[in-house]
Amino acid sequence: MRPIGKRPLVAIYAFVAWAAMGSSAIAADIASLNEVQNVHAIAVSENDPGKLLLATHQGLFLAGPDGPVTRLSKDADDFEGFSVHPTNPDIFLSSGHLAKGGNLGIIRSDDGGRSWERLAEDSNGSRDFHAMAISRIDPNVVFGINRALQVSRDGGRSWKTGGMLPGETFDFAASAQDMDTLYAATRQGLYVSRDGGKTWSLGYLVRQPATMVHAAADGSLYAFIYGVGLVSAKEPNLEWKTVSKDFNDRFLVDLKVDPSFPGRLYGVADTGAVMASKDGGRTWTSFEGSQRATPKTIARGRKLFEETCQTCHGIRGVGERPEDMYAKDEFGFVAPPLDDSAHGWHHSDQGLVETILTGSPRNERMIGQKDNLSREEAKDIVTYIKSLWSFRSLACQGSRHMNCK
Ligand code: HEC
Repeated sequence: MRPIGKRPLVAIYAFVAWAAMGSSAIAADIASLNEVQNVHAIAVSENDPGKLLLATHQGLFLAGPDGPVTRLSKDADDFEGFSVHPTNPDIFLSSGHLAKGGNLGIIRSDDGGRSWERLAEDSNGSRDFHAMAISRIDPNVVFGINRALQVSRDGGRSWKTGGMLPGETFDFAASAQDMDTLYAATRQGLYVSRDGGKTWSLGYLVRQPATMVHAAADGSLYAFIYGVGLVSAKEPNLEWKTVSKDFNDRFLVDLKVDPSFPGRLYGVADTGAVMASKDGGRTWTSFEGSQRATPKTIARGRKLFEETCQTCHGIRGVGERPEDMYAKDEFGFVAPPLDDSAHGWHHSDQGLVETILTGSPRNERMIGQKDNLSREEAKDIVTYIKSLWSFRSLACQGSRHMNCK
């Protein structure tokens, strides 16, 4: 793990500031997950099992694990603080910015994000919220985060300042078990309040930036502590266990637990990549292709890889001449590593499948395999190759690699 600098977290704020400008020059036709650049928040869709709601800078989307996304919101507005009602999956609250400029105020949808009603212009004349939380104990109680903690007791119509925040707050959660217990993930650490936000104390003893906090319906708490990793505890005790440290210099900015399968988690990396874990957060894959990423498919992909690719790309994809990954021979480049030591992860799933089926125009040895392999088999090989990648490479896959050093 690199020493903690402020630099990576500055990115969140730089981005929020950029989003606040309300850029309207955003392309409307986003069709696949890897084109969605800035995901602020996710939610597990209860109406469309297996799919995720993505609140982004370019609207609200529904994403399936095969990669395609559809926009639910009519406009490409910037949805910040997006929250789903804890007992009615058709009701959403959000805040944010209009694509054409200006604030959305506090808005509510009763039809799963298709149409929105404005509940409040803004809260006490202050700016929009970058995080919101609806209490599971009393869904009329809504918390909003801007420079201070704002509280509504009528479902988001009227707002009062609830108190000071303990620090520069990135994310916020309301306890699933106690009305007055609140959690704030701040640059200065993870904080807890037991009196509805009047006073705060450190909730995780390492004073490192906390980039997200989530209180699940069953009383599980999750937080991401930069420099430590993903940690979890059970309310009301804050006896934290480290779930995973395998994030390198990347981190999670949001996380949700699948209400139907508590071991299944979904997260958003700081790069905007949507990630999935099937083992309670210990190991992660990209959400795209996550349904395929079973031990059986990986084993099938591995066998195909060993039969068709390994002679050139090496055992477990280490490459033809791992010591010199950009070496050339009389045909052009030698077969590069496909694990994460070179730049295989600069390609999207789709791009990898196409290269496997149609070959490389730059080298006649990398022949297209479409007479030999079906598209499904090519996808199995991609699933195997991705199982060799770290969280970092998965979070930086495709066009996102431009934002990763
Ligand atoms: C006969 C040798 C050979 C075989 C067999 C082979 N490849 Fe390649 N592959 C290459 C070479 C050489 C390149 C470099 C081409 C280039 O740079 O344009 C390459 C490039 C690639 C790339 C692009 C990598 C990048 O970083 O841009 C991918 C992906 C790839 N191969 C996957 C596969 C898969 C999967 C298989 C098995 C289905 C396979 N290859 C079989 C020789 C081979």
